[in-house]
Amino acid sequence: MKMKKLVVLSGAGMSAESGISTFRDSGGLWENYPVEQVATPEGFYRNPALVLNFYNARRKELIGAKPNEGHKLVAELEKHFDVTVITQNVDNLHERAGSTNVIHLHGELMKACSSRNPDDRKCIVELPEHNPVIKIGDKAKDGSQLRPFIVWFGEAVPMFDAAVKETEKADIFVIIGTSLNVYPAAGLVNYLPQESPVYLIDPKDVDVKSVHNVTFIKKGASEGMKELMSLLIK
Ligand code: APR
Repeated sequence: MKMKKLVVLSGAGMSAESGISTFRDSGGLWENYPVEQVATPEGFYRNPALVLNFYNARRKELIGAKPNEGHKLVAELEKHFDVTVITQNVDNLHERAGSTNVIHLHGELMKACSSRNPDDRKCIVELPEHNPVIKIGDKAKDGSQLRPFIVWFGEAVPMFDAAVKETEKADIFVIIGTSLNVYPAAGLVNYLPQESPVYLIDPKDVDVKSVHNVTFIKKGASEGMKELMSLLIK
């Protein structure tokens, strides 16, 4: 019997219990770093060393982090459903927890790419865990300065179409740890089949705008996923 299709949309809150800071909570990343300077193409051209060091620091934090119970339970959903994880996160904690079908909308922290053409797949490289840094002078295959494989504000989101195709087929949609503030990611909810139930796991209230038939699980990712499993798997 064909398994139901379950799509997860995760955000920074998914990794909060792994010790990775979110963006818009108090003390979040954007409180300490001006977005324009570290997460835009203009910021990179203006001061590449500052941007490279910002992501070098986040990569070192990620190396020391571990998937939390929430990541592991999302991976466990694959025993019961045909699961696609669409994440706004650039960490690799879903994969390290065992999820096998992950779409990264905003790029991947452990990868680097060409600063001339970030989408040139020939230039995308995995950074080694023992030395996950990019320095000024490190070159991509096309001779340009290597840059983080991250979708910065103002840049295209190449994986969005793939994410829409998955969302349109979702029998069940689970939103975990995102304030739904950033587009086009937040707009995915508009592609949901009308009749598909939506579950939203977040310790705070999240404005889901146009979405109806939402079951709110007002808990952190780990406790929330435990509750979701008890609701979905009888
Ligand atoms: N478990 C689940 N959710 C949590 C937890 C937790 N332990 N702690 C915080 N949250 C929730 C917050 O309540 C908030 O709703 O996670 C959400 C984090 O929201 P943001 O910090 O805005 O992160 P996100 O929605 O992923 O941001 C989207 O913005 O800056 C860009 O590219 C960046 O991918 C990011 C995008």
